[in-house]
Parts: sequence; C-alpha cells; structure tokens
Amino acid sequence: MAQYDVIVIGSGPGGYVAAIRCAQLGLKTACVEGRDTLGGTCLNVGCIPSKALLHASHQLHEAEHNFAKMGLKGKAPSVDWKQMLAYKDDVIGQNTKGVEFLFKKNKIDWIKGWATIPEAGKVQVGDETYETKNILIASGSEPSTLPGVEIDEKVVVSSTGALELPKVPKKLVVIGAGVIGLELGSVYKRLGSEVSVIEFLDVITPGMDAEVQRGLQKMLTKQGLEFTLGAAVQKVEASKTKAKVTYKLRKDDSEHTVEADVVLVATGRRPFTEGLGLDKLGIATTERGQIKTDAHWQTNVPGIYAIGDAIAGPMLAHKAEDEGMACAEVLAGKHGHVNYGVIPGVIYTWPEVASVGATEQDLKNEGRAYKTGKFSFMGNGRAKAVFAGEGFVKILADKETDRILGCHIIGPGAGDLIHEICVAMEFGASAEDVALTCHAHPTYSEAVREAALACGDGPIHA
Ligand code: NAI
Repeated sequence: MAQYDVIVIGSGPGGYVAAIRCAQLGLKTACVEGRDTLGGTCLNVGCIPSKALLHASHQLHEAEHNFAKMGLKGKAPSVDWKQMLAYKDDVIGQNTKGVEFLFKKNKIDWIKGWATIPEAGKVQVGDETYETKNILIASGSEPSTLPGVEIDEKVVVSSTGALELPKVPKKLVVIGAGVIGLELGSVYKRLGSEVSVIEFLDVITPGMDAEVQRGLQKMLTKQGLEFTLGAAVQKVEASKTKAKVTYKLRKDDSEHTVEADVVLVATGRRPFTEGLGLDKLGIATTERGQIKTDAHWQTNVPGIYAIGDAIAGPMLAHKAEDEGMACAEVLAGKHGHVNYGVIPGVIYTWPEVASVGATEQDLKNEGRAYKTGKFSFMGNGRAKAVFAGEGFVKILADKETDRILGCHIIGPGAGDLIHEICVAMEFGASAEDVALTCHAHPTYSEAVREAALACGDGPIHA
C-alpha cells in the first residue's frame, strides 16, 4: 500500500500550493524540500526579499526626492545596510514560517532533504524510500549564466547573491534588462550605486508591449540607470573585489569594456531538475531542459506530473500556483484548468509595470483588427498627488466586438490594477463593460476606466 496519495517535490509557490490543495481535497500528501525553510526561490531568494528591498529603497527615494516638496523638511535618512538586510530576512522568515504553519494545519508531511525518483510510485530522500500513488515535480528553476561568465556570488552574482551583498556597491553592472535586472538595478540605484545595464536586444523587457518598453526605459533613465542596448556580453573577468565586463555592440561589432565592483548576471533562469533522475526514468524534456507534460501536467511516465518553472511557459510564481491548484484537482479526480491567455506579468519598478493578454505587436502579427484606448496618469488626480503622473493605461480591444484582448500599464499600483482587466478577460468582457462600471474617486483605477472609455466615445479627463 502506498504511504501517500501524492508526494510533491519542491515547496515553492507551485509545490506548496499544490500540496495544500491536494490535502484540502482529501489526498494524503507529503512535500519534499531540501532547503532549510519552505517557500522555494520565491519566498527565500526571489519575489519576497526583492520586494522588501524595493519597498525600503523606495522610501529612501521618496525622502530624498519628494519629501521637501510636500513640506516634510530635514535630512533624508542614511542607509544602514545591515539593518535593511535584517528587515528583509525578517520578512522572509514570516513568510516561510507561514507556509510551515499551513503545512501543519493541512496535515502535510514535510520530508526534509533532496528527492530522487527511482521509479514511478517511489521517492527516495536520503536513505528513506517513500511510496506514493502520484509524484508531482515542482522543483523550480535556477539562474542561468552565459559562456565566459562564472558566477561566484561575491563579485559576479546572480539574483541570489544580489540580495546578500556585504555592502552597497559603488558601481554595479547588470547584464540583462529583464525583470530581475531592472528590479534589482532599481534597488541599488536608489541606494546610491552607479548602475549600468547591458542588454543584448535593442529593447528592454523583451516580450512586453513596445510602448511600455520605451516608456519604462525613459523613466528608469531619468532615475539614473544607464542602458547599453544591442550589446552582447563576451566575458566577465573577476578579481576578489572588482570585475571587468567585455561586450560587443551588435551594430558594428566594436568591443568595449566596463569595470564594476559587482556584476549582476540576470540573463534568465533554467529548470532545476538536477538529481531527480529524469534521464533514468525516461522522462521527456525539451532542449531547454523543460519537462514535457500533457494538458493535465502528466509527464510521459504515468503517475509523474510536473508544474511551474520546471515545465514550459512563463517562469512566474503565480503561473506555478495556478498549475499547482489545477494539477491537485486533476489528481483528486476533478477538472483542473489554467487559462494561459490570462496570466498577468508585473515588474515592481517605480512606477510598476503590468501586462496581460496580447500586445499590439501580437495583434499586428495575427493581422487582427483592434482598437486602442489609452489614458495617461497625468489625468488622474490621485497619481499626481504621489508624483506618479508619468505612466499610462492602454487597453486593446477587438475592433468589432469590443472584447478586451490585452492591457498594458505603467503607473502607480499597476500590479494591482491589472487584475480588474484579468477578471474582465476571464468573463469575456468588453471595454464598454469596464467603462460602464462605477470606479471610486479618487483612485488609480479610474485610469483603467478612462482607458476603457477611450476605446469608445472617449475619456473624460483627457
Ligand atoms: P528575463 O528573461 O526576464 O531577462 C533576461 C534578459 O537578459 C533579456 O532581456 C535578454 O535579452 C538578456 N540577455 C540574454 N543574454 C544576454 C547577453 N549575452 N548579454 C546581454 N543581455 C543578455 O530573465 P531574468 O530577469 O533573469 O528573470 C528570470 C525569470 O524570473 C524570468 O522568467 C522572470 O519572469 C522571472 N522573474 C519574475 C519577476 C516578477 O514577476 N516580477 C521578478 C524576478 C524574476
């Protein structure tokens, strides 16, 4: 008899959410985690700690740039880096202990250690072998690096090392203008570092709507981040305290170097499946190392499932969570489903960037007839009060049916505002449906309504 109905491997947002849902649905569940604390990359060295540092550094930015304008006089606070890291660690601790509490509450066994799958129905952790009806791999991802670039987590760091630097670097070079590069680049810029971002493509945040890419780059440049675009990094030579980055400009092949106290490599992540024994099991993977699954997250080996960063799709905590819940439902004999067309993406810079659904480029490529409703936060009273009038909300809707196809926001609270549109899209709503919904005044969400109005007869405050 199997000891468990499900053993989940990995306790990140995909794994722990899946384990909780399995337990709630009456399945006897265990979760294997090799870290000292639950929560995976997101809670320990990703989303949560970076948001703590973004919050703290934003307060400093406000004190330095906006307090005096509001009549708040006096010297801006100085940075006690050790204390800031302690605050960040406290936030991590509260969250990881929260997951531990939820495991106890739901009677989920935490098996401590790193898992191997000797065969379907068996999970080995150390000397112990556990029997289970189903296995759910939620082992997440790890930072990937470039040829010629060796991460030592001291001078050449991944996002993990960047959250633990011994001091705020004088000069930080960031390789990659994606989500991690821009969020952590913002943190250190606000704390006083000189920050240069080197990006391979000619745009920042690949995949985002082009207007958002341009707008965000302009805003971050104004905040003091320097960008070198169209530049392929060739190598990074590091000593104990410094590093030299060599890159080639793609337009003319010219070679350049830049020196830094710290280099952050933020060029993407790859699935973390080491030690699971996928090869021996014959589990099919893509050339990028992603585990292949069917529509119900089952691998080619019956009884072994996979979700989150370890499989295809955007490497986002909330995508993994949704897959975790849906897969748990499948394992419990229900009908789990994820709508991959409505997965928001958020970048927690200031202002925030949020996006869901199609970009204008997507719609053009599809040859789809669409209309655009755009509204600037300049016309939003609340945004002006917090010095955030620079961004915009852009809604894309089908030209004929008015059905919302996508939304792109740069502005205060964008990461929260986007969900109004996610719900609208889930319900197949039109821009008019959003425009006809009463929005409280004064809120940032009025800008979303105005963008929806802009898809029809026009906004009021523009
Ligand atoms: P990313 O895929 O977002 O960006 C990597 C960037 O590096 C790209 O712009 C790429 O063009 C550039 N690049 C690649 N090779 C290069 C080279 N040789 N020289 C210069 N630039 C080069 O990856 P990132 O930022 O490392 O994030 C990893 C994953 O974590 C992403 O999937 C991201 O969505 C996720 N994440 C999400 C967050 C959020 O939702 N707020 C926060 C942090 C990470």
